[in-house]
Order: sequence, then structure tokens, then C-alpha cells
Amino acid sequence: MPKTRQQKQNSLYLSPVITIVIISILSPLSLASQPSKFRRAPRFVGKLSHLTEPPQRQQQQQYRYETRYFEQRLDHFSFADLPTFSQRYLINTDHWVGPNRLGPIFLYCGNEGDIEWFAVNSGFVWDIAPRFGAMLVFPEHRYYGESMPYGSTEVAYQNATTLSYLTAEQALADFAVFITNLKQNLSAEASPVVLFGGSYGGMLAAWMRLKYPHIAIGALASSAPILQFEDIVPPETFYNIVSSDFKRESASCFNTIKESWGELVSVGQKENGLLELTKTFHLCRELNSTEDLADWLESAYSYLAMVDYPYPSDFMMPLPGYPIREVCKKIDNAPDATSILERIFEGVSVYYNYTGDVDCFQLDDDPHGLDGWNWQACTEMVMPMSSSRDKSMFPAYDYNYSSFKEECWNDFNVIPRPRWITTEFGGHDIKSVLKLFGSNIIFSNGLLDPWSGGSVLQNLSETIVALVTEEGAHHLDLRPSTNEDPDWLKKQRETEIKLIEDWIDNYYRGKKATFNM
Ligand SMILES: *[C@@H]1O[C@H](CO)[C@@H](O)[C@H](O)[C@H]1NC(C)=O
Ligand SMILES: *[C@@H]1O[C@H](CO)[C@@H](O)[C@H](O)[C@H]1NC(C)=O
Ligand SMILES: *[C@@H]1O[C@H](CO)[C@@H](O)[C@H](O)[C@H]1NC(C)=O
Ligand SMILES: *[C@@H]1O[C@H](CO)[C@@H](O)[C@H](O)[C@H]1NC(C)=O
Ligand SMILES: *[C@@H]1O[C@H](CO)[C@@H](O)[C@H](O)[C@H]1NC(C)=O
Ligand SMILES: *[C@@H]1O[C@H](CO)[C@@H](O)[C@H](O)[C@H]1NC(C)=O
Repeated sequence: MPKTRQQKQNSLYLSPVITIVIISILSPLSLASQPSKFRRAPRFVGKLSHLTEPPQRQQQQQYRYETRYFEQRLDHFSFADLPTFSQRYLINTDHWVGPNRLGPIFLYCGNEGDIEWFAVNSGFVWDIAPRFGAMLVFPEHRYYGESMPYGSTEVAYQNATTLSYLTAEQALADFAVFITNLKQNLSAEASPVVLFGGSYGGMLAAWMRLKYPHIAIGALASSAPILQFEDIVPPETFYNIVSSDFKRESASCFNTIKESWGELVSVGQKENGLLELTKTFHLCRELNSTEDLADWLESAYSYLAMVDYPYPSDFMMPLPGYPIREVCKKIDNAPDATSILERIFEGVSVYYNYTGDVDCFQLDDDPHGLDGWNWQACTEMVMPMSSSRDKSMFPAYDYNYSSFKEECWNDFNVIPRPRWITTEFGGHDIKSVLKLFGSNIIFSNGLLDPWSGGSVLQNLSETIVALVTEEGAHHLDLRPSTNEDPDWLKKQRETEIKLIEDWIDNYYRGKKATFNM
């Protein structure tokens, strides 16, 4: 998710050969003199929004879908005569029992990236579609993937005016208009719609259920940090969770990482220090500031916490099961004479070079500093992030809204609206608000996921429930079932299926009662 242009704009591109290019935009300031980190939160998936390569071939074979396009208004909330744009959506009707039997429609709320990538990484909905006789649709989020207003990314991302239609409200309206139209085309107006989403997509799913109850009967919002705004949760939450994920594997691993930042700065300040760091970390090009390297490391740790899955996976990167354990083994078990920074290198290589086919690591400048999530973070998705002195293994940093605002102005000529999300969708005192309003939302979370701290972890009412797993990570439940699934994960998914069945049954019962009237 969001990071600041000056420092944390690390980004990931995945190519089919799994070469990794990390982009960071850096401040010239040294870490020690000016802790300018953590102004923006880590991204959910970062520059995967720019993913242009098709998903892996194997996955493509596994999931068959048709790709279609739907013409959308650029601005749902004005009558201005603006150009329309083409929204991509993926559809599979193999298991749909059809409109006459009121076959359900499962809609995955596209998030900040290429929809194909989310579709093939949301195996859960594919797994359960047959059992529900459900159709699957995956509408893409505007300004990502192929769903680009103004005909091209270049124009769409030109300036604050062209970007101003990139908001969660517009995206939800896209989904609402899209599904209403699709149902009309299929004469399936009476079919129930169930929403799914992970991460930012999960936030959209939950918000859509609250905003458009007449359009969707329920939502599974996986790892959806809808409370990561304003002062609802402490700003240290995210990095504290990342840090405790490392600490639970090994206290010495945590301590080595905590010590490494100072070490990085002091080596960097030595004569030829940057060159030395360049060599230690096998960088392709000579390092210009220690901050670039610090950002790159910090990104690895944050993403590792998100994907600390119990079995091998390749959501962000090809990784072993419980990858943090492997990183810490490398850090802890290096020969005695190994320096702190060499240990760190060995550790992060598990993340950046698990396949062993990366020749050197790239820390590239982002030539534009513009990508969709950074815009969203600088407008609506203002998620305060700090790093605490004691509980965090990262350099201490206190969230500073003024400097955040300045960066957004520099990057995008825009002033953030930090209170807008809570005004538009709520969040404060959510328990008493949603106890009396709303129904049929599952908030699922794994406590290893740093985003879980900003999510709903308590049951709010009979039908707005939290499913929490101690050992789960970022929207693990949405991944396809595997032979390696631990029992707690199977159980979580079974509960989800049961709840969704209840929503649909209740919907059918209500329909019958209406027909009989
Ligand atoms: C923003 O970009 C658009 C498209 O290129 C252009 O027409 C418009 O004049 C620009 N606006 C500003 C304020 O620069
Ligand atoms: C519904 O049909 C119309 C007319 O063929 C088409 O333009 C539109 O894209 C269809 N809607 C969807 C969601 O595919
Ligand atoms: C450091 O700066 C030089 C000159 O601006 C640039 O060519 C090089 O790519 C930079 N190195 C990194 C790692 O960004
Ligand atoms: C990646 O791993 C391979 C195999 O261990 C190693 O030969 C290579 O040097 C590593 N790449 C980098 C950039 O460290
Ligand atoms: C916050 O940032 C502003 C603008 O960069 C700066 O003037 C101010 O000193 C900072 N406040 C703190 C407490 O660091
Ligand atoms: C919420 O209720 C569900 C049953 O509907 C239960 O399975 C779950 O454990 C409860 N969650 C929490 C956090 O207590």
C-alpha cells in the first residue's frame, strides 16, 4: 500500500522469469539524521498494478474465464459530459445454474492491480463456485490493468485532474452499475450477488455491502483494514506486527535486524562505504544513499509478514512455507564471523532470490513516481504509520501528517483528505454502529498479517462476524485449497462457506415469501 514518494516507494514488478526489479524513490537524507521513513504505509501489492505479463501459464490453464469489456462513465457523481472508458471484467459461467434457478453470482471486487492476477490468486471462489452453482465475475478496478480511462495509462496518470476519478467511491459505483447491467443482460435480476475481496479489495467488498445492500446480499472481506484510518488504531500497529512476526521466530533475528539500520548508516558514511554496501548486497548499480537500501530491506520484511503462509507459495514471490522462519534461520545460523549486514543480506535473499536465478539486485528510481496506489494514499487512503521505539525492529519514526501532506503536494499536486474515508464509510466506534445497522459481512484475518491490526477482529453482530486465525497471513483464506492446508485453515473456510450458504438460503426464503404474498 502506500509509501512516501521520497522514501518508501518501493515497488515490485514480477516477470515470468521472476526477476525482481525494485523501484525506490529516495530521499538524500541519511536514516540517522532524519528519520523520514514510514510516512506512508507499505503497499498492499505495490506496483503489481503495473503487471503486464500474463499470469503464470499453469494458473491460466487451471482457471478458465472469458475476458469482456463494459463501457463505464468516468464520473458517476456528476452529469458532466466526460468521456467513458472500458472496464475489463473476467467471467466464468461453467457452474452457474442460471437465472431461472436464481443461480448466485460471486463478484470479486477488483483491487489495485491487474484483475487477472487477483483472479488466479483467489482460488477459494473458484473452488466453491461448483458447490453453489455460482457464476464468477471479476470486474477490474478503474485505473489499473486494462481498465484505463482516457485510453492510456500515460494520459490517465498525467496529473491531478485526470487522476481525480480514481477513488473508491467511483470504483464501487462501477461495480454496482456493472453488475446491475450484467444481470439485466442475463435476465438474472433476481439472482443473489455475493461479494468477495482481499486486502483493499476486501475493504471495497465490505463497504459495498454497506453502501449497496440492494445489490449484494453479503460480503467476504478478507484482510480488509477498514480501521487503519485516522486515530482508530494506533499508528504503530502495522510495523509492530511485522516485528513480532520476526520476534516469534527468533529474538536474536529481531535484534540483528533492529541493529542493522545503524550499522547500515555507519558503513554508508565510511569512505567508499556506499561501494562496500553495493558489493555486500549484490546490487546491480552503485548505491547512492543508504536510504535506498533501507527501503528495499524494509519492503522485504513487510511483504514477508504479509505472505508468511504456512506452505510454499508464490503470491508476491516464490517463497518457502513460513518464509520468515527461513529468513531468520539464515540471519541466525550464519558462521560466527559473519557481520550484521552480511547476515541481513543472507536473510533477505530468501525473499528476493529464493529461486536463485537473480544475478544482481536492482534498486531503480521510479521515473514518474506515479502509480495508482500512491495517488489513492495521497487522497483518500491516508493510513497513518509510525514505528515504535521498543516494539518495532525498524528505525523509530513518528507519523507526521504535515510532511506527508507536503510529499503528496510534491508528487501529485494534491492535498490529502485524511478524514474522508471515515466520513464516507465510517470506522469510528464501528461496533456500536454496525451492531444496529448492516448484516452479512465476514471479516476474515490472520494475525500474522500486519494489516490485521487495522481490521475487524471481533464479532459485531449476529451476521457481521470476524473469523480470526492465529497463524494466518494476508488473505490466506482466499487462496486455493491445497494438500498442505492446516486444519485451522480448512475450518475457517468451512465456516465461511456455511455463512455464505445461510445468506443465500435466507435470500431464497425471503424471495419465496414475497412470491407467495
Ligand atoms: C492534465 O492533463 C490533461 C491531459 O493531458 C490536460 O488536458 C490538462 O490540461 C492537464 N491539466 C493540468 C492542470 O495540467
Ligand atoms: C449488456 O449488453 C449490452 C448490449 O449488448 C452491452 O453493451 C453491455 O456491455 C452488456 N453488459 C455487460 C456487463 O457485459
Ligand atoms: C545513482 O545515481 C546515478 C547518477 O544519478 C544513477 O545513474 C544510478 O542509477 C543511481 N544508482 C541507483 C542504485 O539508483
Ligand atoms: C541468487 O542465488 C544464487 C544461488 O544461490 C546465487 O548464485 C546468486 O549470486 C544470487 N543472486 C544475488 C543477487 O545475490
Ligand atoms: C513534521 O513535518 C513538518 C514538515 O516537514 C516539519 O516542519 C515538522 O518539524 C515535523 N514535525 C515533527 C514533530 O517532526
Ligand atoms: C464470531 O462468530 C462466529 C460464528 O458465527 C464464530 O465462528 C467466530 O469464532 C466468532 N469470532 C470471534 C472473533 O469470536
